[in-house]
Amino acid sequence: MTTRTTFLGLGAMGSALAVAALDAGRPTVGWNRTPHRAQVLGERGATVADTVEDAVAGDGVIVACLYDHESVHQVLDPVVARLSGRTLINLTTTTPNQARELAAWAAEHGIDYLDGAIMAVPAMIGGPGSALFYSGSTSVFDEHRALLDLWGESSYFGTDAGLASLQDLAMLAGMYAMFAGFLHGAAMVDSVGVPATEFASRQAPFLAAMTGSFAHVAAIIDAKDYAGEGQQSLEFTQAALDSILQASIDQGVSVEVLRPVRDLVRRQIAAGFGKQGSDRIFEELRNTR
Ligand SMILES: NC(=O)c1ccc[n+]([C@@H]2O[C@H](COP(=O)([O-])OP(=O)(O)OC[C@H]3O[C@@H](n4cnc5c(N)ncnc54)[C@H](OP(=O)(O)O)[C@@H]3O)[C@@H](O)[C@H]2O)c1
Repeated sequence: MTTRTTFLGLGAMGSALAVAALDAGRPTVGWNRTPHRAQVLGERGATVADTVEDAVAGDGVIVACLYDHESVHQVLDPVVARLSGRTLINLTTTTPNQARELAAWAAEHGIDYLDGAIMAVPAMIGGPGSALFYSGSTSVFDEHRALLDLWGESSYFGTDAGLASLQDLAMLAGMYAMFAGFLHGAAMVDSVGVPATEFASRQAPFLAAMTGSFAHVAAIIDAKDYAGEGQQSLEFTQAALDSILQASIDQGVSVEVLRPVRDLVRRQIAAGFGKQGSDRIFEELRNTR
């Protein structure tokens, strides 16, 4: 028999996770701080709990999808005495150290803890392209794999509970930097009246093609082979970035996004690496402790 799954937090994402469990025929309990957000889930057949105490009173796995690390403690600390021996899967976005703190807190109270990070928007949950990262308890990941796989492709990164969120935030770092670059380009062409939609139609396929080189760049980084043949040199990249920055300034566009990139390149050249490949800026970014 499928044991029940209790969802704490029925915001946009928590509701999508709970609906996927419900639609798969799993007995589902939901609780939300603001009760009206639990109504839709209740109408679909879930048990709606009035309080966190009621929600966690039974058996089965507990899934938290709340706003942030602090809200997880605000919801779970008052009921921690009831959680000993239970399984908690926390899909709330946290930093790696916040995930580790929650794992330590869980261990202290006899709770089996799996941390997760969601690489999808609510509408994607259970559909193509949805991926979730996990770290923490191996046995929770293995035993509850059928539940996890309802939401998307499940990947497990190891027993260090911070690893899923580290992978998540590393992916988002690339995404935010890319969007900022797109907005910079859109601001450049906006200066001569080109609509962002028109610019996007050219930028999207270009960036998609550029990401095709990630594997090659990654091989250079892993091999620390910045002096190898065929790489775009730091000097070449500086010239390109100088042109982009000057064109931006000429068009009255802020260079806040691109200046730090140009500065990284400049520092590498000043350190004597101008003839080496531009991917060498990775050496300045990485943790060298
Ligand atoms: N939406 C996405 O695309 C997406 C993608 C990946 C990851 N996530 C992560 O999923 C988590 C939930 O996101 P969401 O999109 O569902 O956000 P949301 O719609 O804003 O829902 C936030 C949830 O947290 C609850 N909450 C906030 N503070 C609380 C507190 N102090 N005590 C009790 N409950 C509290 C809210 O309750 P009330 O309804 O009472 O306010 C609500 O249930 C976040 O960590 C987010 O980063 C979201």
